[in-house]
Amino acid sequence: MPPPPPPEAPPRPDITEIERQALSCTRCPLSQGRTQVVWADGNLDSDILFIGEAPGFHEDKQGKPFVGAAGQLLDKLLGEVGLDRTQVAIVNVLKCRPPGNRDPQPNEIESCRPFLEAQLDHMRPRVIITLGNFATRFMIEQPIGITKARGQKFKFRDACVIPTFHPAAALRGGRFGGMSPIDAIRQDLQLARRVIDEAPPKPEKSEPDPTEPEETESEQLGLF
Ligand code: URA
Repeated sequence: MPPPPPPEAPPRPDITEIERQALSCTRCPLSQGRTQVVWADGNLDSDILFIGEAPGFHEDKQGKPFVGAAGQLLDKLLGEVGLDRTQVAIVNVLKCRPPGNRDPQPNEIESCRPFLEAQLDHMRPRVIITLGNFATRFMIEQPIGITKARGQKFKFRDACVIPTFHPAAALRGGRFGGMSPIDAIRQDLQLARRVIDEAPPKPEKSEPDPTEPEETESEQLGLF
């Protein structure tokens, strides 16, 4: 018997409208303590999605993910593989800061789930890099720790999911399986880069607008 056809990708949501809803969300108690909702940074139309855990102090103040020390390290490591924030999207599992940066609670993850799902449905990324335990468990739906998941590739629809350490773990140092977290992240970003560079051209993400001039092939195949 031939294998069943792959499940159809869900329709692309109106991401501007979903963002508008997120910015005034009161679905969970984190809304009461936040300064602002941290929706995303970078390019939600790119092929590479980084998923972190939740905003921290600086992110809550500035309304942007990964702007503190962990974010600066992430920027540096992105630069080492020739990428910057305009070529990737960066989001979190939770869009609001948990008090004292404690771990996300299951009810908070479930309340916030539709927002990350909408970001995934909109982007249809080729590569998803999950930073740490919470993003990894969200994407692969297994109660697995990052030390175990790291070094494996998983599939989410058409995307390759690459779990890696959270940059905050790299800032703390230590060694896991003979490697420092920072070197592990470096290796995983190189893998992400290879997956992107070797990917076949992708069909258009949405129906072409007949009123727009047609894009040339080289524009469509632009790296990101
Ligand atoms: N840690 C995260 O997981 N996300 C951020 O945005 C900042 C720090």
